[in-house]
Amino acid sequence: MEGACPIRRGLLLGLTVSLLLQERGDTFTINCSGFDQHGVDPAAFQPVFDRKAFRPVLNHSVPTRVNISFTLSAILEVDAHLQLLTSFLWMNLVWDNAFISWDPKECISISKLSISAENLWIPDIFIVEAMNIHSAPSGLRAYVNSRGRIKYDTPARVTSICNLDIFYFPFDQQNCSFTFSSFLYTVDSLLLGMNKKVWEISDTSRNVIQTQGEWELLGISMATQKMSVGSSLYDKIMFYVAIRRRPGLYIINLLVPSSFLVVIDALSFYLPAENENRAPFKITLLLGYNVFLLMMNDLLPNSGTPLISVYFSLCLSLMVVSLLETIFITHLLHVATTQPPSMPSWLYSLLLYCTSPWKGCPTAPQKGSQGLPPSHLPGVKEPMELVGKEARPRGAELNRSPGSAKAQQEDEAHKSYLVDQWVLFSHLMDTLLFRLYLLFLATSIITILILWNT
Ligand SMILES: *[C@@H]1O[C@H](CO)[C@@H](O)[C@H](O)[C@H]1NC(C)=O
Ligand SMILES: *[C@@H]1O[C@H](CO)[C@@H](O)[C@H](O)[C@H]1NC(C)=O
Ligand SMILES: *[C@@H]1O[C@H](CO)[C@@H](O)[C@H](O)[C@H]1NC(C)=O
Ligand SMILES: *[C@@H]1O[C@H](CO)[C@@H](O)[C@H](O)[C@H]1NC(C)=O
Repeated sequence: MEGACPIRRGLLLGLTVSLLLQERGDTFTINCSGFDQHGVDPAAFQPVFDRKAFRPVLNHSVPTRVNISFTLSAILEVDAHLQLLTSFLWMNLVWDNAFISWDPKECISISKLSISAENLWIPDIFIVEAMNIHSAPSGLRAYVNSRGRIKYDTPARVTSICNLDIFYFPFDQQNCSFTFSSFLYTVDSLLLGMNKKVWEISDTSRNVIQTQGEWELLGISMATQKMSVGSSLYDKIMFYVAIRRRPGLYIINLLVPSSFLVVIDALSFYLPAENENRAPFKITLLLGYNVFLLMMNDLLPNSGTPLISVYFSLCLSLMVVSLLETIFITHLLHVATTQPPSMPSWLYSLLLYCTSPWKGCPTAPQKGSQGLPPSHLPGVKEPMELVGKEARPRGAELNRSPGSAKAQQEDEAHKSYLVDQWVLFSHLMDTLLFRLYLLFLATSIITILILWNT
C-alpha cells in the first residue's frame, strides 16, 4: 500500500515528530529534522497548537510567570467630566511555554519563530481601570524562541478611569493608575513580574510619545500589591502615570485676555469722574467680559470648580464693583452740583484734615485740587453755621427781599463753596474707593497665584 501510493515525506516526518513530541519525556522537544527542505513543518508544532487551551506547564502546581511591560505611546484625551483617560499603549508580555523547545543547531539555526497568536495560550492580562479597550489589529503574532519563551506585543487604545482633580486647571497634574491583573488565574497559577525597570518604561514612553498635545508625560512609577477578591488572591502590578497639562493655550486664551480686561477696568478709574463716558465705558467692558466668558466656556473643564472659575468670577465681580462705584460717585457728583445738602460737621472737619497737604489722605488725581481752594477760605464760616444756613428751606430763600443783594451774593458764594466741598469729597471718595479696589485686586490675584503655585 505504501509503495503504491507514495506518502509525502513531510507528512511522514510530521507524524513521526508529533509522535515523538507526545511521548512522555522530560521535555517536549520539537524534532525539526527536515526543516531545511520544506521550511518549518506545521505538523511539528501541531501538538503545541492543540494544547493552546491549557496553561503551558508540565507541573500544574508551578505558576506561570508573566513579565509585563508597556510603552505609553500617546495620551489622547483626558475627560474631566467622565473622569476618563484615553491613552494608547503597547503592552508587552513575556512568558514561558513549557511545551515548546527545540535545538537551534538541529533546526537550521532557527532560534526564534513568529507564530500566529491565536494558536498559542495567551495569558488573560487586563487593565483593571479600563472601561473600554480597542485592541487594534486582529491576527497578531508572537515570537517564540528555542527555549519556549514567548514574547507577545499588543497595541491597545485604552480608556481608563482616573481620578482627575481639576482644581488647579490649567496648571494641573494628574496621577492615573494602570493596574495589570489576570481575569482568571490566581497567584497559584499565574505570577506577574517585570523584566524591565520602571524608569526604562518611563524613559521609553517619554521618547516614544508622539503627541505634542495638551498633556505631557512626567513619569511612571510602580507599586505592586496582591489583590484579593473574595477568597482568591490575584497578582497585580500597578503603575502610576503622572501627566501634566501644557497650560500655554489656556494662558493665551483665558488668562491674558481676562487680565487685560481687568487692567483696563482698573485704568478706567483715571477717566475723570465728571466725564459721562466713564459708566458707559465700564458697562461696555463688563459686556465684553461676558462675551469673552461665553466664548471661552468650551475651553473650561465642565465639571467641578477649578480655581480659574473662581478667578473669572472674581474678575467679573471686580468689574461690577467698579461699575457700582462709578454709579455711586456719579450720583454723589450729581447731588453735589445740583442741590448740595449741608455738610455734617464731622465730614467737614475730616475733609479739612484730609486736604491739608501734609496729611497722607487720598487726593483726587483727576482734579489736582489739593487742599481747599484758598479763594474760598476767607469767607470761612463755621461748619455749624453752614449746616444751619443750608437747612433753611429753599422757599425761605426765595422769599427774602431781592433788595438785599449782598445777602444773595453771600448765599451764592456759600453755595458754590458747598458745591466745591462736595465735589472735593466725591473725588476723595473716588480715590479712596479706587485704592480699596486696587488693594482688593492685588490681594485676590496674589492669593490665586499662591494657590496655583502650591
Ligand atoms: C527526529 O526525527 C528523525 C526522523 O524521523 C530522527 O532520525 C531523529 O533521530 C529525530 N531527532 C530527535 C532529536 O528525536
Ligand atoms: C510539581 O511541583 C511541586 C512544587 O514545585 C512539587 O512539589 C511536585 O513534586 C511537582 N510534581 C511533579 C510531578 O513534578
Ligand atoms: C521575568 O523577569 C525576571 C526578572 O527580570 C527574570 O528573572 C525572568 O526570567 C523573566 N521571566 C520571563 C518569563 O520572562
Ligand atoms: C500617584 O499617587 C500614588 C498614590 O496616591 C502615589 O503613591 C504616587 O507617588 C503618585 N505619583 C506621583 C508621580 O505623584
